[in-house]
Amino acid sequence: MLRIAVLVSGGGTNLQAIINAKGDGRITDAEIVRVISNKKDAYALERAKENGIESVVVAREDYDSRQDFEKALIGSVDGAKPDLVVLAGFLVVLPEELTRKYEYRIINIHPSLIPSFCGKGYYGLKVHEEALKRGVKITGATVHFVDSGCDTGPIILQKAVEVCEGDTPEVLQKRVMEQAEWIIMPKAINLIAHDKVRVENGRVYIN
Ligand code: GAR
Repeated sequence: MLRIAVLVSGGGTNLQAIINAKGDGRITDAEIVRVISNKKDAYALERAKENGIESVVVAREDYDSRQDFEKALIGSVDGAKPDLVVLAGFLVVLPEELTRKYEYRIINIHPSLIPSFCGKGYYGLKVHEEALKRGVKITGATVHFVDSGCDTGPIILQKAVEVCEGDTPEVLQKRVMEQAEWIIMPKAINLIAHDKVRVENGRVYIN
């Protein structure tokens, strides 16, 4: 059984997608053992509660220094004894100690086709605003392993989504979530749970 810790900052629709996929059998041999939020009011915490999943808040404002906050975050992740750490809309840059310790055991969902519209400053709605500004006709989502860079780790799965005439960032965000994020995140977790993902020379191969 793959033990999963899910890190969140907001609404938690990707967390919900994982819970749903476990419920309907798209994810097997895996369980969410802890949800960790850096925001006290994240709706994701409600979703954890509703589903009987332990949740923990580690908020920057509760610590005197960034260092203490990071220490607490690492402690909370370690405490869950996870085989896999899932960043599901977690908008904190991870401490390098964590990415080193959990090499190829942390995955992130990003709302674009990496390497487009990613890196520092590209998160949430901002990604879709930039995609619309650039006028791309296709966008999508990416699940990737997390390394010490920003959105630079090996890509596991991607799915393309059409941009439509008249899209607003909000409309596009919803389509990318529905047609890509909520599909490929559970799929990647299930592949990992069944030992089907391996990394060689910085590239992912799926068995
Ligand atoms: C999702 O669209 C996710 O891809 C994005 O934040 C949103 C969180 O939504 N993540 C990033 O932009 C990471 N760079 P959720 O809380 O409803 O899952």
